[in-house]
Amino acid sequence: METKPDLLKITFDGIEVEVEAGTTIMQAARRIAEADASQGHLVPPAMCYYKPLEGSGGKCRACLVKVAQGSAKDTRPMPKLVPSCITMVQDGMVVENVTNPAVLEERKAIVEFLLLNHPLDCPICDQAGECHLQDFAYEHGSSNQRYEEERRTFEKHDIGPYIQLHMTRCILCYRCVYTADQITEKRVHGVLGRGDAAEISTYIEKSIDNDFSGNVIDVCPVGALTDKTYRFKNRVWFSKPVDAHRDCDKCSSHVTLWYRGEEVIRVTARKNEWGEVEEWICNTCRFEKKKTSDWIIEGPTKVLRSSVVSANKYRADTVKKPDFALRLANSQYKPIDDSRPFITDEETVRQLSIENNRKANERSAFENTEN
Ligand code: SF4
Ligand code: FES
Repeated sequence: METKPDLLKITFDGIEVEVEAGTTIMQAARRIAEADASQGHLVPPAMCYYKPLEGSGGKCRACLVKVAQGSAKDTRPMPKLVPSCITMVQDGMVVENVTNPAVLEERKAIVEFLLLNHPLDCPICDQAGECHLQDFAYEHGSSNQRYEEERRTFEKHDIGPYIQLHMTRCILCYRCVYTADQITEKRVHGVLGRGDAAEISTYIEKSIDNDFSGNVIDVCPVGALTDKTYRFKNRVWFSKPVDAHRDCDKCSSHVTLWYRGEEVIRVTARKNEWGEVEEWICNTCRFEKKKTSDWIIEGPTKVLRSSVVSANKYRADTVKKPDFALRLANSQYKPIDDSRPFITDEETVRQLSIENNRKANERSAFENTEN
C-alpha cells in the first residue's frame, strides 16, 4: 500500500501550506502561487537559484526572508535573514517575506549591490525585456545608488562562434557553470579568481563547442551570455514568440521560435512561469534551424500579461482592463469636465493662454518662496 509522506505545515506571509520534508522555503512559496496565481507576488525573487540545476542557489541573496519562528518545537526566530532557495522548511515554521519591512529594505540593498558593477546599458543590451536583473531592480530596487567608484572592467574573451560573453554584465550566479557541468559532456568554463577579481572564463580560451552549450544563454539571468546569431537583430518586445518542434535526434526540440515579420530571428528553449528552461535544446536546433520550413508550428507562446514581450500582441477585444489601472485612475485622476464651452475664437484662445501662463508663473514663484 502506498504510504503518504509526512507533510510539514509552514506559514508563509500568513498563508498556510503543507509540503513534503526536504522542500525549501522558496519551493513552498511557489507552491502557494501555483495553487492561486493571484499570490504570485509573494514568491521571493531568484537571481541564482534555478530548479533544473542541482546545487544552484545561495549565491545572490535576492531571495532572503525572515524566519519569525524556526519550528513548532523551537519557536525562536532565526537571528538573521535566510536565503529561501536553500533553507529547508521545518514543521510549524513561520516565514515573513513581503509582510516584513526589513526584508523589503534588505532587498533594495541587494539590488544596489548587484548593480555596483553592472553597466546600465539596457538600451543596447539584447537581454533587455527579459532580463531578471531589470525585473528585480524594477520590482524591488530603489531609484538611486550611492556607488561612486569606477566599475570593473575585463579583457575581452572570445568564447566561440555562437555565444557572446559580456563579463561586465555578469552577476556571478554560477548558473552557466552548473549548466555546462551538468548537461554538456565536458565543462570548459568556470569562475576564475575570487571576490572583486572573480570572472567567468574558459580555460585557455577554449570554445564552448559541445552540442548543448547554447543552453548557457537561456539560463543567464542577465545579458552576460547572449546569442551571437541574434545580436542586435531586434528588441524582444517587437518579436513574436511561437512554440514549435521538429524531428531531432539530439534533443526534444520543443522550442520557442522568435519571429520578426516572416523571419525566424532566434530559437530558444521554452521556459516555465519562473523563467526556467523546461527542456534543454541542442545547438543544431538553436543556431542552425532558422527557417519556418524546418519546424512544425504548434501555436503562439503563452506570455505572461505582465511581461513586456506581451506588448501589442493581444486583440483589443479580448483584453480586460486590469483592475489596478482602474483603481489607480479612480484614486489619482480628477474627472475631466467636458461641459466647458468649446472655444474657437482666436483672440479668446490667446487671452486664455496668457491668463493660464500668468497663473502657472504665480504658482511656481510661490513654490520657490516656500522652498
Ligand atoms: S555569465 Fe550569466 S549565467 Fe554565468 S555566472 Fe554570469 S550572470 Fe550567471
Ligand atoms: S536565489 Fe536564493 S540566493 Fe540567489
